[in-house]
Amino acid sequence: MRTVRLAPSILTADFGRLADEARAAEAGGADLLHLDVMDGHFVPVITFGPAVVEALRRAVSLPFDVHLMVAEPERRLDAYAEAAATVNVHVEATAHVHRALDLIRRGGAEAGVCLNPGTPLAAIEESLPEADQVTVMTVNPGWGGQRLIPSQLDKAARLRETIDARGYGARIQIDGGVTVANAARCAAAGADALVCGGSVYNERAGVAENLAALRAALDG
Ligand code: DX5
Ligand code: ZN
Repeated sequence: MRTVRLAPSILTADFGRLADEARAAEAGGADLLHLDVMDGHFVPVITFGPAVVEALRRAVSLPFDVHLMVAEPERRLDAYAEAAATVNVHVEATAHVHRALDLIRRGGAEAGVCLNPGTPLAAIEESLPEADQVTVMTVNPGWGGQRLIPSQLDKAARLRETIDARGYGARIQIDGGVTVANAARCAAAGADALVCGGSVYNERAGVAENLAALRAALDG
């Protein structure tokens, strides 16, 4: 059985205390920290850019998974690649996916591609052999706390089959609407990592307790 990594997203954390929120994820047993960079163009929302990612880099030693929801991501990849273990670009955001993946790798990080729910798997057919990770978006990006779109788990499962059948090295990450109730289904669809925003940073419980509940749901 595949070990599924948990990647808390600070999008739903308290932005006034980001370093503390990141440290809580680290202390609570997170495997990665997922950082959602939004530019107000590719998605309506603006979050933060390289300066905040670099500041968080000094606060924790967790590997960073940077999710770039920005148009033409190849313009600013260097700063992110230096701070992150993996940098992910959307296939819908650039006409130059291979250039973007190459720049990320040359910057020292692993390179990922992300697919919006409306984008078919065929859109990454030509970049899949070059990708270290594919993020299947199970919500339309822009906000935390949305509901997972069930059809996207079928997409993840088809991607799993393709990767395994062709012997590619890409990991699969699922991002959006992951909860204690559906985490096991996400794992069964073939995920290697689950991004967890609202199910980790919420008012109901602390970060460590929420992470433990997700882990227990995965361990069945
Ligand atoms: C959505 C972001 C996600 C988000 C996930 O645009 O890419 O990473 O933070 O949050 P939840 O888990 O609450 O859907
Ligand atoms: Zn994300």
